[in-house]
Amino acid sequence: MAAADLERVPSAEPEPRSLSLGGHVGFDSLPDQLVSKSVTQGFSFNILCVGETGIGKSTLMNTLFNTTFETEEASHHEASVRLRPQTYDLQESNVQLKLTIVDAVGFGDQINKDERPIVDYIDAQFESYLQEELKIRRSLFDYHDTRIHVCLYFITPTGHSLKSLDLVTMKKLDSKVNIIPIIAKADTISKSELHKFKIKIMGELVSNGVQIYQFPTDDEAVAEINAVMNAHLPFAVVGSTEEVKVGNKLVRARQYPWGVVQVENENHCDFVKLREMLIRVNMEDLREQTHSRHYELYRRCKLEEMGFQDSDGDSQPFSLQETYEAKRKEFLSELQRKEEEMRQLFVNKVKETELELKEKERELHEKFEHLKRVHQEEKRRVEEKRRELEEETSAFTRRKAAVEALQSQALHATSQQPLRKDKDKKN
Ligand code: GTP
Ligand code: MG
Repeated sequence: MAAADLERVPSAEPEPRSLSLGGHVGFDSLPDQLVSKSVTQGFSFNILCVGETGIGKSTLMNTLFNTTFETEEASHHEASVRLRPQTYDLQESNVQLKLTIVDAVGFGDQINKDERPIVDYIDAQFESYLQEELKIRRSLFDYHDTRIHVCLYFITPTGHSLKSLDLVTMKKLDSKVNIIPIIAKADTISKSELHKFKIKIMGELVSNGVQIYQFPTDDEAVAEINAVMNAHLPFAVVGSTEEVKVGNKLVRARQYPWGVVQVENENHCDFVKLREMLIRVNMEDLREQTHSRHYELYRRCKLEEMGFQDSDGDSQPFSLQETYEAKRKEFLSELQRKEEEMRQLFVNKVKETELELKEKERELHEKFEHLKRVHQEEKRRVEEKRRELEEETSAFTRRKAAVEALQSQALHATSQQPLRKDKDKKN
């Protein structure tokens, strides 16, 4: 074996050996220590609500958390989709929850497909977490994690099929966030229609390759319930802030002339299933999936884009310094190339403008020459006219003088005639 090959053989790590303890040591309290630490730190959970204006998003949030979040109504005239995050501090027993509800305001009201602002918002939260991670002095411990843990996608209860906007949006979001699709206002659709609608939706999601969040079945404790619930997706939910007396109990419900729809009655809708799956059973899995799957993907793509690469077993270990230098060189040469491009562009532009100016000058010169010719021609015509007029004037003067001479002659002759007659008479 060559010396170089020998160097690459990883140093053999000793196999760990199992030993039994002679008595109680205490590290079995590690899980309790973890729980206690997490409880002290508190939790954050971020829900993104996507669904058309007035579909019942706020009502469902109020119903889910049994409180009133006081959100204002959206108008149907938003110029574009706007993401509106609102954060609340909630407490149940001794557990603190920093809950952020993000509303995609104006979704479904625009003519063009408008999932871009939602994607950008999700990415922006990943980016700010990544920036915190890349800091030299990180403070991830008290960092307010705003990454979206779940997207509740509100499907309009048409009983027909998914809109293309729904499919396009979910497809764009599925690699970035855990999507739980829900049929909103499920009290407005009949039981048989709802059954068919659910099957149709799932079929469309599968045929369009949309990956929705699957409740995990790898943890034995919840595998069974999660498997059952996966088959119930999408949940058909009803929200209400109204309390109605049923029997001798006040329950959240919607009252109609023909009866009462109880939000928490599993025969009436899947609200309880959603609450169980989203909050009681899988909240931590949603948080974990966000970190280990969606954020990881974002982080990997972003770091690769920045030029970082993991080393494979055989090559040199990854060096931050080298990557930085390589990236810097790449950036500088790119900058130089851009500068040269700009300079060339400028030179070309100047040449073009010069040519244009020359052409304009030539045109002006031609115009001037033409005008000059026209002017000379005009001048010549005027001169001719003047000469003709002068000739006419002098001819006229001559004629006038001749006429005047003739007239004076005639006058002279007529004045002589009576004198002669008188003389003749006297004689
Ligand atoms: P924006 O935030 O303005 O987009 O509306 P939203 O999606 O938050 O809807 P919101 O919760 O304000 O509810 C709009 C209307 O729908 C209200 O009149 C609610 O009472 C009604 N509504 C909410 N949930 C349900 C439901 O499950 N069934 C029925 N039938 N109506 C509902
Ligand atoms: Mg609302």
